[in-house]
Amino acid sequence: MKRALDIGTGNGAYLLELYQRGYFPTGIDKRDRVLPENVKVARQEGRVEIIIMDALTYLESCTERFNLVSIRYPDELAFYLFAPHREALDFLGKIHRILEIDGVLEITSRIQDFPYKDIIDTVEKSGYFEKTELEFFCFGNNYTVRFRKKI
Ligand SMILES: C[S@@+](CC[C@H](N)C(=O)[O-])C[C@H]1O[C@@H](n2cnc3c(N)ncnc32)[C@H](O)[C@@H]1O
Repeated sequence: MKRALDIGTGNGAYLLELYQRGYFPTGIDKRDRVLPENVKVARQEGRVEIIIMDALTYLESCTERFNLVSIRYPDELAFYLFAPHREALDFLGKIHRILEIDGVLEITSRIQDFPYKDIIDTVEKSGYFEKTELEFFCFGNNYTVRFRKKI
């Protein structure tokens, strides 16, 4: 099964969507949230995994490889996605390292004009990724930008 890592997963709701898309999803969040019942059940049944830890610490020590890394509604995580912060390069490099050769990074927002221009700029200029497409997910009104890992 393909593996997905959802960074800043919050209450893990997105993990269920990733599971439906055919991934075994691991969600990571630095805060321990109250989980909705359907996420709790999926976790108990081993359909999704949730780790409570700082994402950067996890990425540094991670020995697993993922086909997809998702960041939905980055909010405070967006700090790591903007140049000129040194943190952005560092964060993207860590994501690059844990992705499989054909791995994909997806960043999703509710707002079409969410600072995509700046984020896309940072991600592309990092040299770690190239943009593939911009997609509009009708369900949930989400806008997702997708990047492919550069070798
Ligand atoms: C707006 S919420 C994301 C909600 C979730 N992705 C969703 O789709 O419903 C942002 C999340 O990022 C988490 N977060 C922020 N910085 C983090 C970090 N350094 N490591 C792990 N999680 C972090 C916060 O705890 C918060 O739950």
